[in-house]
Amino acid sequence: MDFVTTTAGVRLPHVIYGTAWKKEATAPLVTQAITAGFRAIDTACQPRHYREDLVGEGIAAAIASGAVRRDELFIQTKFTPAAGQDMSSIPYDPAMGLPEQVKASCAVSLQNLQIDVIDSLVLHSPLFPYADLLTVWRSMEALVDEGYVRQIGISNLYDLAWHQKLYADARIKPAVIQNRFYADSGYDIDLRHWAKDVGIVYQSFWSLTANPHILEHPVVQGAAISLGKTPAQVFFAFLRTQGVVPLSGTTSQEHMRDDLESAAVTLDAATVNAIAALLAPTKQ
Ligand SMILES: NC(=O)c1ccc[n+]([C@@H]2O[C@H](COP(=O)([O-])OP(=O)(O)OC[C@H]3O[C@@H](n4cnc5c(N)ncnc54)[C@H](OP(=O)(O)O)[C@@H]3O)[C@@H](O)[C@H]2O)c1
Repeated sequence: MDFVTTTAGVRLPHVIYGTAWKKEATAPLVTQAITAGFRAIDTACQPRHYREDLVGEGIAAAIASGAVRRDELFIQTKFTPAAGQDMSSIPYDPAMGLPEQVKASCAVSLQNLQIDVIDSLVLHSPLFPYADLLTVWRSMEALVDEGYVRQIGISNLYDLAWHQKLYADARIKPAVIQNRFYADSGYDIDLRHWAKDVGIVYQSFWSLTANPHILEHPVVQGAAISLGKTPAQVFFAFLRTQGVVPLSGTTSQEHMRDDLESAAVTLDAATVNAIAALLAPTKQ
């Protein structure tokens, strides 16, 4: 398994298993993913879309089976602000102040995941105004200081200027960004370049879902045929050349294997450049 080491010194595997929308199937799928070879798991303290408690059960079962040790896993969860929660299942009291909400959410995550420390805590979405975002960030920094969290990051923020402002103001810098990888954001090209320069690891979701036009493109199809791999594997291999760590929430054992094996797929420079050109903005 390939790793990138974040600025916080945390080892992040090249592909992350995502646990959204799996409902009651979450625990067995997490156990299967770890048994298949995934060493990074992404979830959120957001019962509307994630069964974080069952992620914890799935991890515990994999550890109990001897498939993995806790220290071999990268476990990432998120603080989801009240605006992203369903009020009937919100896991903390939204009447509390923001620092207390972050602290309470982290306590629920630690309990759900059955762990003592979270490897990566991601702010699920930015808050407005910026002062609220910074208040939450300070609370996440405090969780690092207190030893509950090893690194912090941010998701669903596409505005480079806001990232740069947060980076400047942060005492503990973001170690990861997790964004939707799609044409509407211009594939975050400027943001990804900046993130690479300052050492932030970019994680992508919707990498396959949002990009059928890339997976079906002759460049990707041709590379897949000549390498004897699938288009999804070629695209994941391409993402790795760009320093992007994709998430996969596959429910298929075959796709779990494919996603893991994409690490062994090497693309030639011409193919990398041709796929990169597909992400470039089209001239009007
Ligand atoms: N931060 C956020 O706001 C946010 C938002 C959305 C998602 N996420 C995270 O990202 C994770 C992934 O979500 P996603 O939206 O990227 O989609 P996804 O759940 O990974 O689904 C992508 C689709 O790709 C298919 N797939 C996966 N591997 C494949 C392969 N090797 N070949 C062909 N098809 C393949 C899956 O089908 P099969 O099941 O049939 O393989 C599925 O239909 C989530 O579970 C969650 O952890 C975060």
